[in-house]
Amino acid sequence: MATKEFKRAARIILVGAPGVGKGTQAERLMKRFPQLSALSSGDLLRNAVRQRTPLGQEAESHMKAGSLVPDDMILRLILGELKAKSWVPPTTSLSDAAPSLPSDAPSASFILDGFPRTSIQAKKLDSLVPINLVVSLITPVNIILGRIANRWVHAPSGRVYNTGFNKPKVEGKDDVTGEPLTKREDDGEETWRARLKKFEETSEPLLEHYDRKGVLWRVEGKSSDEISPKLFGEFETRFC
Ligand code: AP5
Ligand code: MG
Repeated sequence: MATKEFKRAARIILVGAPGVGKGTQAERLMKRFPQLSALSSGDLLRNAVRQRTPLGQEAESHMKAGSLVPDDMILRLILGELKAKSWVPPTTSLSDAAPSLPSDAPSASFILDGFPRTSIQAKKLDSLVPINLVVSLITPVNIILGRIANRWVHAPSGRVYNTGFNKPKVEGKDDVTGEPLTKREDDGEETWRARLKKFEETSEPLLEHYDRKGVLWRVEGKSSDEISPKLFGEFETRFC
């Protein structure tokens, strides 16, 4: 498929319960629109844990318990990545916090998967880079729980597979590298329920924040296959 130019830069956030399909939709959007890149806060944190960085060591217990890592920690981590990818100017610092949106908005188009998760994170992000679409993904909880049991991941890349719906070509192996797939440490049912509870506590103020800004769009479906065409359609209307 030929790469189409966007009529304006897309700066998108995916919000949704654990296992709703944020990572899956981000991958599909990037396949469909190769100009897009994505950043997953969960993948970044899991990399930091694997590499035993000081931040990773501090984050690990929060993640294992299914709770959120502290705002200042995730903000430091994300800002570093936004700078490394030139999605914000290299001189940006967390104390810059401008009350209004920066006038020199970046031209890159990107998806943030799993960040921001609290209104404190959202307000900080507003002061760094203006987001122009927030997708709230909605799927019934009983359906999500069934999927998590079948989820396998390629940890170094964050690629997600599902033995029921999106099998790897060779059982237990990543399609691209052939490396072994693993289970996520926080995918046990008890931890997943803790993550869901945390999501229910924090998502309402987050979504209200973006609703007030007029950038919130909700999409509901029983499966990612039902959601993807709607998401592609909305994306095309807004950006293509
Ligand atoms: P994070 O990694 O972001 O986890 P999460 O939000 O709990 O979401 P998941 O990655 O589990 O699910 P997903 O929505 O990406 O679904 P997926 O596409 O894999 O965060 C992990 C932890 O990090 C948090 O708990 C927290 O501690 C910390 N953290 C991260 N960001 C933070 C922040 N901003 N602030 C503070 N702390 C933060 O899909 C799920 C499964 O469903 C897969 O197996 C997939 O294959 C399958 N699936 C998808 N579509 C279908 C379908 N149509 N039919 C069947 N199965 C399907
Ligand atoms: Mg994910």
